[in-house]
Amino acid sequence: MSERLTTNLKIRRGTPGDAEAYDVIEFEFEAGQSVLDALRWIRSNRDASLAVRYSCINANACKECVMRIDGRTGYACTTALKPGEMLIEPLPNKRLIRDLVTDTLPPDERLA
Ligand code: FES
Repeated sequence: MSERLTTNLKIRRGTPGDAEAYDVIEFEFEAGQSVLDALRWIRSNRDASLAVRYSCINANACKECVMRIDGRTGYACTTALKPGEMLIEPLPNKRLIRDLVTDTLPPDERLA
């Protein structure tokens, strides 16, 4: 049986114009689980209102789960959880939609 580890995910919440706010959620995991595993668990078990975008889940193919993880741009589905604390934020250089979701479409692919 794998050792259970614990991390506190500090997750940026809100919409454009909101005061800066974070939720801190403790998550127990096994080595090898990803940040996206934790975010999906949080949506299913703690807070269904958490906005996060993903599609392929773990293939690093869709690129939809890109976000800031501990101050670096990365894919939530391929970034391993680490014990202690992790900071999860939306991309800073894209228009924020809500929580961890930003507008990542190129301008010529946007509707209206
Ligand atoms: S969910 Fe598809 S690349 Fe991360």
